[in-house]
Amino acid sequence: MKIGLLGHGVVGRGVTAILDGKYPDLEITKILVKDLSEGNDPRYTLSAEEILNDPEIGMIVECMGGVQPAGSYVLQAMKQGKHAVTSNKKMLASLLEEILAASSEHHVQVRFEASCGGGIPWIHELEHIRRIDEITGFRGIMNGTTNYILSAMHENGTDFAEALKQAQKLGYAEQDPSDDIDGMDVRYKCCISLFAACGLVISPDLIPAFGIRHIHASDAAWAKQHGRVIKMIGEGSPQGACVMPRILKSNDPMSAVFSNQNRLETDSPTLGVAAFSGQGAGSLPTAHAVVQDILDIARGCTQMKTEYERIDQTGIFEGTYYISGNGAEALNLPVKEKGNGFIITEHILLNDLMQALPEGHALFIAEVCE
Ligand code: HSE
Repeated sequence: MKIGLLGHGVVGRGVTAILDGKYPDLEITKILVKDLSEGNDPRYTLSAEEILNDPEIGMIVECMGGVQPAGSYVLQAMKQGKHAVTSNKKMLASLLEEILAASSEHHVQVRFEASCGGGIPWIHELEHIRRIDEITGFRGIMNGTTNYILSAMHENGTDFAEALKQAQKLGYAEQDPSDDIDGMDVRYKCCISLFAACGLVISPDLIPAFGIRHIHASDAAWAKQHGRVIKMIGEGSPQGACVMPRILKSNDPMSAVFSNQNRLETDSPTLGVAAFSGQGAGSLPTAHAVVQDILDIARGCTQMKTEYERIDQTGIFEGTYYISGNGAEALNLPVKEKGNGFIITEHILLNDLMQALPEGHALFIAEVCE
């Protein structure tokens, strides 16, 4: 089968490194790039149409990032009868319904293992578990950048800005790290996981998402003094999904996941809690997941279920919340404990917390977990 690759950045280069010359029946014949000076590869083209309209190409692999034009290219290729593999969580979460519809309507596969958990075979495992069980919940450390930052703050007392710089230098962060530190990247991954785990499609902006942009060294130090660790957690269930930093007890297995590693867990009736961990980002681990998808399609594996139910609101979340920063004490919320620059609320509804927050606040908010 001939393959058209869209994008030759961190992930795309990993795909050519793993696939080129290794599988006699698979050949990447054209690669879409933004600039021909990106490298010296005779397959490079600046024209997406040249790939999308090539009748010999039976599969496109999208590793461009961003919602558009990546989404239009994927949809156009599927409409022309080409299978699609994507690593692009933002595009997939934003256009999930259209992409699933195109897969059913045009009898082509869409696979997206690399979009969530990088190299960890997460989507495949969810699909597998669902052959027997209804998944009752999932949660995970799904973002390598924030886990790297929180780990550095916890272990070395590094401040947030310095830890972010290190994560960018190591190539974990998105080009604009806002998606990482504001929880958007995990939100997209929760959308995709909610579909794969529970067959539900929700618009990303309906998922409550809190980030770590306003965390300070004093917050990490407070958690450490209390024998706890702050982790950025995405979670979901048939009721919906939520993204939030969580102050975990040290006996929670999530608290032992350090550096840029990811860990994902599911819960279901016959399997119970199952956990998967490994590299959630990076060129070769992510490309490994992309090439697994390519091989699944080429080897005739059947498409995962594309039926879904749309939900237009997320479930009810509640908890005890740690809030720090200027103005935390002035919030109209029931307070259980007050400290130097922070409060801990009584057990409240997340919705009540969200209503109490002023627009454009600069507070750090995390759930204190039992
Ligand atoms: N920026 C993402 C992360 C890349 O840090 O996890 C992988 O999705």
